[in-house]
Amino acid sequence: MDNIRLGFIGGGRIVEALLDGLHEADYLQKMNILISCPSANNDTSSLKRFSNTIQMTTSNIFLCSNSDIVIFAVKAKLIKSICQEIGKTLDKNYLTNILFVSIIPGLTISTLSQWLQTDKNIIRIMYNVNAAKRNGSYAISSSLNNENNHSLEIYLKSIFDKVAYYAGNVTESELDIMCALIGSGPAFFCTAVEGLADGAVKAGLSRQLANTLAARTMLGCADILITSGKHPAELKNDISTPGGTTIYGLHELENKGVRGAYMDALMSAYNRAQTMADQLAKEII
Ligand SMILES: NC(=O)c1ccc[n+]([C@@H]2O[C@H](COP(=O)([O-])OP(=O)(O)OC[C@H]3O[C@@H](n4cnc5c(N)ncnc54)[C@H](OP(=O)(O)O)[C@@H]3O)[C@@H](O)[C@H]2O)c1
Repeated sequence: MDNIRLGFIGGGRIVEALLDGLHEADYLQKMNILISCPSANNDTSSLKRFSNTIQMTTSNIFLCSNSDIVIFAVKAKLIKSICQEIGKTLDKNYLTNILFVSIIPGLTISTLSQWLQTDKNIIRIMYNVNAAKRNGSYAISSSLNNENNHSLEIYLKSIFDKVAYYAGNVTESELDIMCALIGSGPAFFCTAVEGLADGAVKAGLSRQLANTLAARTMLGCADILITSGKHPAELKNDISTPGGTTIYGLHELENKGVRGAYMDALMSAYNRAQTMADQLAKEII
């Protein structure tokens, strides 16, 4: 299995997060990874720190010719032209042996199969930057039944399992919801950490202590929720002493509609993924 060649078209932040997690899992050096991006030969590329364990190229065609699995990890608007170049240059039969993977919000299996002129060998995966610390989450959307592609999918799953919690094989619509929850979620949580830390600074705590304690409080709270299986409201109620400080603070959050704001944020990110899917399908991105 470790001879399987894993190719990434694009080597930006989300790919780097996966590589960091695999490095931390002591697994990167056992893998066969090739990444294509315009800055592959650039000495300042942050991926250079993995140069003993991964290969880089500027050619997406070279990448596809030397990969069993190809993951699209570039901005959505670039993918159609990349697919056209691949389709023009490489033999169709050869392409059917590659497992293609979209990690792009809104880039559906059907749109990608039109662009690549191939089907039955495309899946979608959504994961998040938390993979860098082996604390990510991921889900797959796949209905492959071809044996070769299915074994490639199993290999890919074994790789993601090293750095992220597996949420299951879900529909593409559910994957778009997860894109909002786990893909955008880290940014949403960062606004909560930043707001709480700002409050502590306003009250007089040092910035460094405020940031560290706000983040550690979120980490500890997440740990209790996951390990105890408690509903968030239960934990919130447990620490809200009648007439105490916490319930006063919670009243302010309710007055400002914070829970509604988080729901709107999630719905907005989800709707954006669906709009992007429509635009990509109609080729107007
Ligand atoms: N960030 C997330 O949490 C997350 C999660 C899931 C999915 N995604 C999706 O994954 C994609 C990449 O996100 P990112 O945050 O990693 O973006 P990013 O940091 O901006 O990286 C984009 C990468 O694409 C490369 N690139 C540009 N043009 C290319 C081409 N023609 N051929 C090959 N590579 C090319 C860039 O290379 P150069 O630097 O050399 O130009 C860069 O390595 C996006 O579509 C995003 O929506 C992101």
